[in-house]
Amino acid sequence: MASESHHKENLHNLQLEDEGQHRNPSEVKMSQIVLPCHANHCGELSIGQLLKWMDCTACLSAERHAGCPCVTASVDDIYFEHTIGVGQVVNIKAKVNRAFNSSMEVGIEVSCEDLYSGRHWRVCQAFATFVAKRTDANKVQLRQVVPCTHQEQVEHSLAAERRRMRLIHHDIIQDLLNNKTFQRSISEENHDEDEALPTERTRVESVELVLPPHANHQVNTFGGQIMAWMENVATIAASRLCNAHPTLRAIDMFHFRGPSQVGDRLVLKAIVNNTFKNSMEVGVCAEAYHRDEPLRHINSAFMTFEVLDEKGRPCPLPPIKPEPQEGQRRYQEALARKKIRLDRKYIISCKQTEVPLSVPWDTSNQIYLSYNNVSALKMLAAKNNWDLCSKKNNVSLYTVEESQSLCFRVEFEMEIPAQRAFILLSDISRRHEWDQHYILCKLLLRVDEDDFIYQVVTPSVSKGGQYQDFILLASRRPPCDSGDPYVIALRSVALPSHPPTEEFHRGEVVCAGFTIYEVSKSVSKISYYNQASPEVLPYISTDIAGLSSSFYSIFCACRQYLLDNIMCTSAFTPSAL
Ligand code: COA
Ligand code: ADP
Repeated sequence: MASESHHKENLHNLQLEDEGQHRNPSEVKMSQIVLPCHANHCGELSIGQLLKWMDCTACLSAERHAGCPCVTASVDDIYFEHTIGVGQVVNIKAKVNRAFNSSMEVGIEVSCEDLYSGRHWRVCQAFATFVAKRTDANKVQLRQVVPCTHQEQVEHSLAAERRRMRLIHHDIIQDLLNNKTFQRSISEENHDEDEALPTERTRVESVELVLPPHANHQVNTFGGQIMAWMENVATIAASRLCNAHPTLRAIDMFHFRGPSQVGDRLVLKAIVNNTFKNSMEVGVCAEAYHRDEPLRHINSAFMTFEVLDEKGRPCPLPPIKPEPQEGQRRYQEALARKKIRLDRKYIISCKQTEVPLSVPWDTSNQIYLSYNNVSALKMLAAKNNWDLCSKKNNVSLYTVEESQSLCFRVEFEMEIPAQRAFILLSDISRRHEWDQHYILCKLLLRVDEDDFIYQVVTPSVSKGGQYQDFILLASRRPPCDSGDPYVIALRSVALPSHPPTEEFHRGEVVCAGFTIYEVSKSVSKISYYNQASPEVLPYISTDIAGLSSSFYSIFCACRQYLLDNIMCTSAFTPSAL
């Protein structure tokens, strides 16, 4: 609940931030000079060593927050933007963005520093999840992280959405790989058999004995150590294919399925799964055994390597001929992962609102588009330069004007439980009951229980002009814990089955939606946000200029709709197609 004292505390901390005094209590920093013993034969810091330092810094940050030992559960995709040379300094900063139950997200930033020129540059950013472990068998309940600065508030809010994405990541990829249409499109990829290199020559198998220096104080093997061993075998496999020095560009999400301890033998296996024009995917599998016990699957990872020429440009790689059966399956799955990787990189690493609205929605990028949808709204809501434009009948209109965009927020408080308001406002197909601009709203696709795609028809902006239609992805999210708002995010997507037609002018929504805060058990603060696109601007510019108050009447109607339906018992389940 957003209490007054909490607001005051935040205000105080935001002032501290402005004065540059705030330091997150879980923040841990590590600085290392890269020595020849940390580098490969080309004088570049080995990524394995970097992963060890990153994991160690992040683990110490997690333990600082948890106050007890923590283990690495997963590390999200990492993209390495630069290599680091011997003699340069690596600076790593880690802090806990958010604690959930027994797990927490740790944000890790890696930068490089040249001591002679004083220059600094970013190498990568990563998000790792750590799980707090007590020696007794009971699950730990972590204390919450209280975000203090504006940046921490944004990260705290986005962490909830990233958690959702990582917990369904594996299932989404499996669903996609099993999807018949997707399999067909992949098998149609043609490759030149004559020039293809057999992958068998790239196969690597290597064993490691886990010794005390590889483990933490609980005798569990450090996650970073396992990642470093995996990177080592993957680099050997990649080098065998290209007979040159490969550079690691990206690692797909790591998930530590089970622990390993001192005394375990770790068997690491790697092979090139596929090559693309300028890059290759190497798969690695780590399994552990102890004495004559059966092998335990610890981790599998997929790494993307490039071979760079002397000017740093990627060189073309030869096609490969996979082994039959398993090799063939992995070859095809690597193609699928490449598509997913590209979507993910494009949609997630782009600035939220710069992802083109024409990105076609499909099952392979659905979680990333939903992530983008929710996080764009959360970032819009978190802007700290909202100006109150006017207030009427307890409905306030705020705006943020930036060089490229005009965003507005309409806000009111009313007597309704937040969850009830969320259920009623989530049902976009009922919006016409309070918003006269929604002439028609048709549910096109139920993506999952929280994401839906609608076609919305609105009147023309100009007199006598054509009706407009929008294809909108609506993503609704209940709070992750108390203090979070309910969120209903809307953005345009292109749905290949519903291209623009002559009947309507196709409009686009960059970012819009609601946040609903519980002020008390029976009172909610409802905020509607919109990053105004040219299609929406004419509706609101007169309100912002103070020339009309149509927006107030719409949101008064919204308040009335909520009051009229406050007792309505049916939970929101959009009707079938
Ligand atoms: N990514 C992020 N978090 C994950 C996850 C994943 N892939 N899988 C599980 N979690 C989180 C859960 O969401 C849960 O968080 P919460 O308590 O905040 O809600 C937490 O881990 C525990 O989940 P639970 O279902 O109770 O346990 P589990 O049986 O799924 O075990 C681990 C999860 C991580 C504890 C377990 O897989 C493990 O011990 N892995 C090895 C960890 C390790 O030793 N790493 C070092 C290298 S070996
Ligand atoms: P999958 O086979 O579905 O990809 P695994 O977890 O079995 O998943 O393996 C992950 C990756 O590790 C594989 O894609 C492959 O690249 C590599 N790998 C697995 N087993 C071997 C092996 N016996 N030899 C070499 N590499 C292997």
